[in-house]
Amino acid sequence: MFRIAVCVSGGGTNLQAIIDGVRQGAIQDTEIVRVIGNNRNAYALERARQAGIEAVCVSPRDYEDRERFNEALLAAVDEAAPDLIVLAGFLVVLPPALIQKYENRIINIHPSLIPSFCGTGYYGLKVHEAALARGVKVTGATVHFVDRGTDTGPIIMQKAVAVRPEDTPETLQRRVMEEAEWKILPESIALIAAGRVSVEDGHVKIVTENADEKK
Ligand code: GAR
Repeated sequence: MFRIAVCVSGGGTNLQAIIDGVRQGAIQDTEIVRVIGNNRNAYALERARQAGIEAVCVSPRDYEDRERFNEALLAAVDEAAPDLIVLAGFLVVLPPALIQKYENRIINIHPSLIPSFCGTGYYGLKVHEAALARGVKVTGATVHFVDRGTDTGPIIMQKAVAVRPEDTPETLQRRVMEEAEWKILPESIALIAAGRVSVEDGHVKIVTENADEKK
């Protein structure tokens, strides 16, 4: 079994898409072994419990400084012994030690077409507010590996979503989730779990299914 740990901060709709993907067989031979949240009230943790998945909270509030919190977060990940860490709306700057230890084994979903509307300060609804303020006609979502920068790692998958004239940040956020995020995040995990994704010279290579396997 391929083991994944999912890190969350909010409502957990992307976590739900992963849970459903595992249940329905779109993601094969994979187990969500632990969900880690930084916020006790995150509904995502409740979703995990309802699905029978271990849910733990590691909140910065419970530690005297950032260093102690970082150690606790790393320990919470290590205990789960994951093959892959999925950041599904996790709004915490990852400890450098975690990024180093799990190089090319951490992925993130970002609600824009990177390199647009990404980096420090671009998260959640703010991304969609910025896209509407700029007047783009197309936006979307990106799944990428996590490196030391903010939203700078190798891109695994992207999906475009058309902006409508009547869109508000909220309607655009919802459509980007429905049409892009909830699809490309489970798809990326399925490909990685199947051993079809590699990183070469900073770029992602995806091995496509061959005809024999499709039979
Ligand atoms: C998602 O839209 C995700 O792309 C975004 O937070 C939301 C979490 O929703 N992540 C970022 O902005 C990361 N920079 P969810 O809790 O319902 O999955």
